[in-house]
Amino acid sequence: MSRILLLGADGGLEFRLSQYPGNLVVPVSRAVVERPSFDVRDLMLEGHLPDIVVLGSDLNRTNALSIASLVDAMHPETSVVMIADPDSGMVLEAMRSGVRDVVAPDASDEEFRIMLIKAHDHSSRRTIRRAVEEKAERAVESKVIVVVSPKGGVGKSTISANLAVGLADEAPMDVVLVDLDLQFGDIATHLDLSPAHSLSDAFASSGSIDSMLLKTFLTVHPSNFYVLCGSDSPAAADRIGAKQVRELLAQLATQFRYVVVDTGAGLDEHTLAALEEANEAVVVSSMDVSSVRNVRKEIEVLAQLNILPTSRHFVLNFADRQSGMSIRDVEAVVGLPVNVVVPRSPEVSLSANRGVPVLLDKKGGPAVKSMRQLIKRFADDRRAQKDSAQHKGLDVA
Ligand SMILES: Nc1ncnc2c1ncn2[C@@H]1O[C@H](COP(=O)(O)OP(=O)(O)OP(=O)(O)O)[C@@H](O)[C@H]1O
Ligand SMILES: [Mg+2]
Repeated sequence: MSRILLLGADGGLEFRLSQYPGNLVVPVSRAVVERPSFDVRDLMLEGHLPDIVVLGSDLNRTNALSIASLVDAMHPETSVVMIADPDSGMVLEAMRSGVRDVVAPDASDEEFRIMLIKAHDHSSRRTIRRAVEEKAERAVESKVIVVVSPKGGVGKSTISANLAVGLADEAPMDVVLVDLDLQFGDIATHLDLSPAHSLSDAFASSGSIDSMLLKTFLTVHPSNFYVLCGSDSPAAADRIGAKQVRELLAQLATQFRYVVVDTGAGLDEHTLAALEEANEAVVVSSMDVSSVRNVRKEIEVLAQLNILPTSRHFVLNFADRQSGMSIRDVEAVVGLPVNVVVPRSPEVSLSANRGVPVLLDKKGGPAVKSMRQLIKRFADDRRAQKDSAQHKGLDVA
């Protein structure tokens, strides 16, 4: 089926275009098109873009060609065709303005039919190519960052919330924080949010996701990022399986540059599914022997399952001198370098209790410095990508 926007419509032309089954023609009269206030962009709405724009033969030629240029530049997946008596000079000028085809007003029905089929094919090919390009761009760009730890209470939610705040500074409204601690998720408390919707709403009764509706289930945080909050009921975990988690994160990755995922303690099926979709893992441990040993075990299991993202960031939280362990000891047990050390500090727990991530705290103590270091690991990476793309003459927004 083709959606056809007919500019400069007259009854005869509208009839000729509508007679093919499945075509939906939206006619706009010449009088409207030639008003000074007319702007074709008002009719080119995202999600309702026409496949074909037909420029009627009564339209002023210059006006028609400038509409063609505008549509071609802004929406290359829409084909523009023109109804006019073709002479060679005029056809050339029309083609230069982005017109795909020119057909005489008195052309046969068969010629009209062929013109519409060609325009429709062209539009579909361009639409598919654009979707593929966008997906490829996103696949390189989007970071799905999963924050994990074998033990509870080591600071995963604190770190996830601060990561979202910091990354939103870099990419406003292009970050989503997902509370995947399906049983006892408390991201809403960490951020002082009262969400109208939660993660379980994102799945229809069929268990699949409606990608068009997904954004409506997100809550906006005042620091310019989105949050998909956990469900109030721990029973939600039973209704959401690994497949749904993978589908959810894959969907979000097509819509956001950064997807930050907070998880529950240990490796339940949801966390494993998230790691399968992840390209970055933040492994958090507190500075005690049992936590550190468990991190080692967790990393071994993930390596065996082959789902540990190659890009990992090991964060040692609650660091203090009283623990009896040094950073070297931790590294020796875990077998990974410690990338960021977050000191135990009252400012962190105070801010969590107030529902304001410590990064938003103006004072900026030592814990803030550490959080910034962690964020820099992702933001720097992004900058490096941008530099290398520019180097290659590509444009990374
Ligand atoms: N560096 C720190 N210094 C002081 N308190 C901290 C620090 N990091 C986290 N906390 C506090 O520790 C508590 C647990 O942190 P958080 O909720 O982030 O852990 P979690 O790993 O998400 O826990 P759970 O596994 O239960 O979800 C919170 O009250 C938080 O404010
Ligand atoms: Mg938590």
